[in-house]
Amino acid sequence: MEVRLAKRTSFSSRLGFVLAAAGSAVGLGNIWRFPYLCARYGGGIFLVVYLALVFTLGFTLMITEIAIGRKTQLSVVGAYRQLDSKWSFLGILSAAVPVIILPYYSVIGGWVVKYFADYITGAGHAAAADGYFTDFVSGTASPIVWLLVFVLVTAVIIMMGVKKGIEKASKILMPALVILSAVVAVYSMCQPGAIDGIRYVIVPDFSQFSADTVLAAMGQMFYSMSLAMGIMVTYGSYMKKNEDLEKAVKQIEWFDTGMAILAALMIIPAVFVFSGGSEEALTAGPSLMFITMPKVFDSMGVGGSVIGGVFFVLVFFAALTSAMSLMETVVSIVRDKFQLRRTSATLIVTAITIVLAMPSTLGFGLWSNVSLIGMGILDFFDFISNSVMMPLVALLSTIFIGFIMTPKVIVDEVMLSSEFTRRKLYSVFVKWVAPVLVAAILVSSVLQGLGLFHAF
Ligand code: PHE
Repeated sequence: MEVRLAKRTSFSSRLGFVLAAAGSAVGLGNIWRFPYLCARYGGGIFLVVYLALVFTLGFTLMITEIAIGRKTQLSVVGAYRQLDSKWSFLGILSAAVPVIILPYYSVIGGWVVKYFADYITGAGHAAAADGYFTDFVSGTASPIVWLLVFVLVTAVIIMMGVKKGIEKASKILMPALVILSAVVAVYSMCQPGAIDGIRYVIVPDFSQFSADTVLAAMGQMFYSMSLAMGIMVTYGSYMKKNEDLEKAVKQIEWFDTGMAILAALMIIPAVFVFSGGSEEALTAGPSLMFITMPKVFDSMGVGGSVIGGVFFVLVFFAALTSAMSLMETVVSIVRDKFQLRRTSATLIVTAITIVLAMPSTLGFGLWSNVSLIGMGILDFFDFISNSVMMPLVALLSTIFIGFIMTPKVIVDEVMLSSEFTRRKLYSVFVKWVAPVLVAAILVSSVLQGLGLFHAF
């Protein structure tokens, strides 16, 4: 039985809340996933569709989650139980998502730290060699050590608490992230020949528009805004009742989208210069960051190795603030449930995360012949969480709010501190539009994951 902690801590200001939530939203998804999806789905047209979705569907889902957290002052498991005990399962289902994601996200976080370490120790050139990435990830000890570094840094920040840990770290890391990204983007756009890449990102080619563009943009929006995994509920529970919730959501959306565009402007022009914009290089997916980008930096000479270091430190900051939100969500559930101190809860969650991360990291080496429904171990966890559980949680929560609780509950909570100018849009969306769109993502991403359909 959940007992509400005597006094729940909160972020000290709206800025603190917005930076922490934007820190969660801006992550690996913005930096490598957005640019390659943008490249694959017709550049500017993908951007237009994406923006339209963020400010309607994304807005609806994000405001719902934050308002649920602020209303109940509880982490996701307790929050749904308090709203309606018959829907407790939805809280548990949401809570399972960060438990699954955090371990494998930390494996990738570890790779990022390793590349950053390579660049600052002058080994950037070596990182561009053919086979470097594969050799590294297929090892045993080295990827585990880097994974541990990443998890432990995250854990230390979480142990320091909401205000002194998460808020303080976000206030330093997020502005640094923006500045470093601007430096890399300007450098990349100033390379001779970059203009074709810039044009590619910005100018919409309407002939490339299709249902696939919409589905891909929707999937990306979900992931990028850290929706449907209890994160925004948890962060919302740390938001003061008098902070303007609607304004905060708009600011998070702009931050997240702005960073995705900036990332596209750093990566796409650089890849255009390097490879003349070859389809293969641009749409290489995950390997874009660890294989193509080091080659691009290497081809830029001395300046390239500095820019490579800057690039990996910014990716590290982005991944770290996202991992913090994942860990905090799990820690806060454990604390609400068992009434533990923050330090003990964090230690337990850290240990579990490390154990659960082992299969994902070993899946590239010792256990590389393990295949789950045709996927490697890390990809399997990614598929289950992002393609199945997240859309399912989002679908159930829109049905729950739209038809069981009614949108009024959310509207009332938001209006405690905001004018809620888009409340009409919100009520229609949460009830009628969001469930249909989310169901479409669920079906298409499951079919695509099973190799039966190709939207991504
Ligand atoms: N929103 C993050 C990104 O864009 C991804 C993320 C997923 C963050 C899950 C936290 C949890 O990369």
